[in-house]
Amino acid sequence: MKVDNKHYHSIWREASGDVSFIDQAQLPHSFEIKTLSTLAQAATAIEQMNVRGAPCIGATAAFGVAFAMQEDPSDPNLGAAIDRLKQTRPTAVNLFWALEQMRTALESIAPAARAEAAFKQAEVICMDDIKTCKRIGEHGLSLIREVAEKKGRVNVLTHCNAGALACVDWGTALAPLYLAHEAGIDIHVWVDETRPRNQGAFLTAWELGAAGIPHTVITDNAGGHLMQQGLVDLCIVGADRTTRGGDVANKIGTYLKALAAMDNHVPFYVAFPFSTIDWDIRDSTQIIIEEREASEVTHVRGLTARGQLETVCITAPGSPAANYGFDITPARLITGLITERGITHASETGLLKLYPERAHAN
Ligand code: MRU
Repeated sequence: MKVDNKHYHSIWREASGDVSFIDQAQLPHSFEIKTLSTLAQAATAIEQMNVRGAPCIGATAAFGVAFAMQEDPSDPNLGAAIDRLKQTRPTAVNLFWALEQMRTALESIAPAARAEAAFKQAEVICMDDIKTCKRIGEHGLSLIREVAEKKGRVNVLTHCNAGALACVDWGTALAPLYLAHEAGIDIHVWVDETRPRNQGAFLTAWELGAAGIPHTVITDNAGGHLMQQGLVDLCIVGADRTTRGGDVANKIGTYLKALAAMDNHVPFYVAFPFSTIDWDIRDSTQIIIEEREASEVTHVRGLTARGQLETVCITAPGSPAANYGFDITPARLITGLITERGITHASETGLLKLYPERAHAN
């Protein structure tokens, strides 16, 4: 992604060996690059959502394992580091996928060689994610092009942030939009604010603005109305975990958008890489839905008129709040899944057409 004409990834290894990342908890009010140098820092950055978004969480965790190997490359410490990182966030399967990639790459090599191999493997995860997301974008672009050829301007609705920040670059749901914009297609994006943490208003709007893509931030409840008015041509969202049968866990509120899209005959697509598919889960009720602190619901952070960042309480004193981070959109509400291997039906058959090597697993 470009910020002030400089290209950034969400997380990267510096020539010095340090690992830098864009601190997403400070955006859009301040663009800050921070550095990680320990396992504990990587784990905290994921927990506190300084890095967030399924593929970005996976990449950060991979670097976390590498830091642990720098300190102590023994077998017990490899296991302990992976266990610690697994505790950070429960829903996005990319975290667990990346940690298993690290375990596989490291457990068969001598401890003395592990730190270097771990950093290399973490960088491979990052570089592969960039290529994968670009391919997702190319497949998704075909859908946008089809609408553009029929009617000119294409209005896309997206939820949360499934952009470059959420991955290493490009994003999943936003990758087709970046490519459409580059191809000169007239697109406009409806950006759900995505309470409680406002990833849409804070991050997606910031990314699209930096890329010069026309967009409008809307309240989370506005999408249904816009669809009824014929103002949405296509919904594209990301995913944190997709089951073998094509059900999708994504940011809370995704399900309601899919229901509204179905009722209004608006195509609803979910974009994600192979690392988001949990081939072990058939029943989406098995997916652990993260519940975060109530204060994320009761309080909102923003800039005051004097330009000061403040957090204010928006609820009646003493009212309890519940904070479910994700919901499940059943496959039946999804028009199609956009992956790096192409677009497919949201079903086990559809996924296996793209990933036939998984036919016998499970
Ligand atoms: O809680 P977050 O901000 O990590 O949730 C992120 C999402 O739900 C994204 O839509 C999802 O990770 C897809 S990222 C390409």
